[in-house]
Formats: sequence, structure tokens, C-alpha cells
Amino acid sequence: MQFQERISQELDELRRLDRYRTLPDITARNGKHIAVNGQLLLNLSSNDYLGLGDDREMLAGYAEELSGRQYAMTSSSSRLLTGNHPLYDQLETALASLYGREAALVFNSGYHANIGIIPALSGRHDLVLSDRKNHASIIDGMQIAEAPWQRYRHLDYEHLEELLAGAAGRYRQIFIVTESVFSMDGDLADLTRLVALKEKYGALLIVDEAHGVGVFGERGLGLCETAGVVKQIDIITGTFGKALASTGAYAVMSSLVREYLINTMRSFIFTTALPPAILGWSLLTLERQVTMQRERQALLQLASRLRCALIAQSLDVPGESHIVPVITGSNALAVALAARLRDAGFLCLPVRPPTVPEKSARIRISLRSTLRWEDIEPIAELIGGITGS
Ligand SMILES: Cc1ncc(COP(=O)(O)O)c(C=O)c1O
Repeated sequence: MQFQERISQELDELRRLDRYRTLPDITARNGKHIAVNGQLLLNLSSNDYLGLGDDREMLAGYAEELSGRQYAMTSSSSRLLTGNHPLYDQLETALASLYGREAALVFNSGYHANIGIIPALSGRHDLVLSDRKNHASIIDGMQIAEAPWQRYRHLDYEHLEELLAGAAGRYRQIFIVTESVFSMDGDLADLTRLVALKEKYGALLIVDEAHGVGVFGERGLGLCETAGVVKQIDIITGTFGKALASTGAYAVMSSLVREYLINTMRSFIFTTALPPAILGWSLLTLERQVTMQRERQALLQLASRLRCALIAQSLDVPGESHIVPVITGSNALAVALAARLRDAGFLCLPVRPPTVPEKSARIRISLRSTLRWEDIEPIAELIGGITGS
């Protein structure tokens, strides 16, 4: 079969399975609302959890600062060549001091971090144990790595311990990797338990706080701060692209691991560095979010109120964070539900396999501290009515 014919047939198959994706036409983004395909909707699909991306005053202030500094809009090369702007050092120093850790390293994105860290640190004599629901970028990282990997059942630490016990003494190093706040279920890893396990078995623990940063912890450092284990986790990663309303990502770690990554991590070495304008903005939003404790509380209260209202409609709503999924099971129902919600003025996107396991399609409601209860109050009844629960 010719190439064109094959990929066209594969696209038809995706359509048949309700898995076909298209790029939305986004013409405006304004605070709580977003214009998609010509329709103004309440945006319940943003990862800008603290609304920092829409903070007009902060944006205007930064635009003024930029005009004075005349930063280039490119860094023009890798950090190891000429792209290592002094703002990198400022940002990494701020991150290390905030987390009270020896060192931090900034990457181009969370995806770059996850596809680079595991392959750099592990080799064929090592083993990686990964939560079954870890993000695609972590899975891609494990696929690139030479080390074999196994998945433990989602949040099932007895299963993880079985795997650890079975692997003990057979590998040079065992790595455990998990998200803190799971991106598609909004449920939480038990980081205290994971730290105990990693200590018991001499494993290294890597925690991806992509959805925890800004939302959990006194200073928004994530679930590791809430659990009081910031110092015990070997590598904590976070992204600037979600609550921090910028671009890029980071990890905090020991100075030695930082030095090793700079020398071996391919997705760090072989890519153009971030532009200075972005680094400066990341520094600003990082510092700002530290002070946003009130917003964090409001966001988590809003989420728990919505969860209660959805559960009262007998809906299947896992998790315990600002990410509120409503499981439909069927792909077609998730797509239909999202369409009906759009008709009613709400943007909640359907999430289907392969992003989530088979038969667990859902709509994912992603809340922000700038939303009020009045904004989202009708949703629970609306969803209850549509799904006929
Ligand atoms: C858990 C997790 N890790 C990493 C990423 C990737 O981060 P980034 O968007 O900065 O590439 C995402 C989101 O896309 C995510 O949900």
C-alpha cells in the first residue's frame, strides 16, 4: 500500500473510533473566556491555574521593562554554546533557594525534561518503575532510555513494593517516577509513602509536579511541599507552562546531578536555549505565585464544591484537586458531552484514548482561581442531565 493511502486509511480509522483530532480556531483569549471557532466560551480547559497569564497589570509592567532592556527574542544557540543568558543563572538560583535545594536546571519544556532526564541518568543495568498513569512525556522518556521499565498499578504502592522487592539486588540502580497531581484524573500521589519506599529500597525518586506547582504548598512548590518532603525527593520537576503562565520547565536536584545532566542530557544539550524575554517573565511569575496562597485556597475550595455537586448527580468524578474529570467511558459520549457543554457556553474538552486508558474517556474540567462559583454553578446539573445519570 502506498504511503498516502495508508495514512489516509489510518485517519479514517481514528474518525471511526472517535479519536480524530483537529486544531481549534482560537481567535481571542480574554480572562475567564476564550473564543473558539467564533464562539465565546468560559474557559475550563486552561492550565493557567492562578490566572497569571491574564494578569494585565503584570503583563503591562513586564512589557515596559522589556522595552527598556531590549532583550533579543531568540537565544540563537544552545546553552552550552552562546545561549546561556545571565537570566538562566538568576532563575536557577531563585528556584534552588525557594526549594532549599543545592541546584536547579531550566529546560525548554516539561516534555524536554521528561524525555531527557531518565535516558540521561539510567542505563541498561538499571530499572525504571513508573506509575501506570504517568504522562506521555514520561513514557516517551522511558522508551528512549536504555534501561528496562515496568509500570506499577496507578497509586498502588503495594504493587510498587512487590516490584521493588523482586528487583532488589538485580539492578545497578532503581528509579521510581511519578506525577504528583495526575494530569488526567486530578488524583494525588502519596509522596510520603513513596519517599519511605525509595529509602527502604535505595531507589531514586523523580516527581513531576507539572500540575502541583502553584496550586499546592504554602509557597506553591507543589505537593512535595504539602507533604513536607521537598528535600527527600531526588529530582522534582515542574513546568513554567501551566500555573506559572510562561514557557519552559525546571528540575531541582543536587549539584552533582545538575552537573551530570548538563553533560549528558540530550534534550538539554541539542536544542536552542529559551529566549531571555521568556526567562525574565518566568522569574517574575515564579516570584509572584509564591505570594498567592489565598488564590490557591480559593481554587481548591472551588474544586471541592464542584466535585460535590457532580457527585450529587451520581457522576463518576475521581481525584481531589483542581483538575476535575467526569468519566463517560465511551469516546462518543465524551465528545457529545463536550459539544453540549460548548452549546451552553462552557469549554471543557473531551479526553480520549490513547491519552487515557481504553474505555475511560472523559471530559476534563480544569479550574482556575479567577473563576467564581457563579461562573460554573450550572455545570453539574447540565452534565447530569446530558448523561442521564
Ligand atoms: C505531567 C506532565 N508532565 C509534563 C508535561 C509537559 O510539560 P510542557 O507543557 O512544559 O512540555 C505535561 C503537560 O503537558 C504534563 O501534564
